Amino acid sequence: MRTQNEPDPRAAFFNARAVNWEANCYPPPVRERLPSLVASFHLPPGATVLDMGTGPGTLVPYLRKALGPSGRVFPFDLSLEMLRQVRSKLGPADPPPVLATAMRLPFRDESFDAVVCFAAFPHFEDKGRALSEMARVAKPGATVIISHLLSRAELLAHHGTHSAVAGDALPEETDMRQLFLLAGLPDPAIIDAPGHYHAVCRKPAGTPGGRA
Ligand SMILES: C[S@@+](CC[C@H](N)C(=O)[O-])C[C@H]1O[C@@H](n2cnc3c(N)ncnc32)[C@H](O)[C@@H]1O
Repeated sequence: MRTQNEPDPRAAFFNARAVNWEANCYPPPVRERLPSLVASFHLPPGATVLDMGTGPGTLVPYLRKALGPSGRVFPFDLSLEMLRQVRSKLGPADPPPVLATAMRLPFRDESFDAVVCFAAFPHFEDKGRALSEMARVAKPGATVIISHLLSRAELLAHHGTHSAVAGDALPEETDMRQLFLLAGLPDPAIIDAPGHYHAVCRKPAGTPGGRA
């Protein structure tokens, strides 16, 4: 593992790919799946939602639509080049995108009605820390969602071709359950099937905010 003073090499990896990210990763047949994916999150209109590892804000327009004008999307990412593309997708009430790491979220405890982590969790170097941060900033009763349009095995094969992210994987189910539990999120629902990965848990009332 890196020392704290060394930059995360993933920032350079994703910076270099930011401009063409959506065109390359979300061609029409993949993009068509995003509305139903976001619908499956069951986000209430007016909710305040954290978009973890937003990239170029791929999910932002769909989150915006689901939340309506009174809802707010908070996007953040490790990659500045990715974030340059997010601002134009945000609504007037949304805050500007934030440059931050998932392992140290610059948000107060119990800030969000939902914490959405789409296509980003495998890249978080300390997954236990990141999930604890996700739990910390979630309000009691909020949903914490980790989601992909690939299964765990498909994702591993996909990352395998790029050296900076080759080892980035979703934990096996038992390890993922343990990470959720340690973060104060017991008994997540996990679906791992071809073309789909979904781990979701509602933060119980009265849960301390993880290890942050
Ligand atoms: C595979 S991309 C997905 C981006 C976006 N969610 C999408 O679907 O287009 C993963 C994103 O996670 C970001 N990322 C990686 N490690 C991160 C970290 N520790 N904290 C915050 N973001 C991170 C990357 O910069 C990148 O934008």
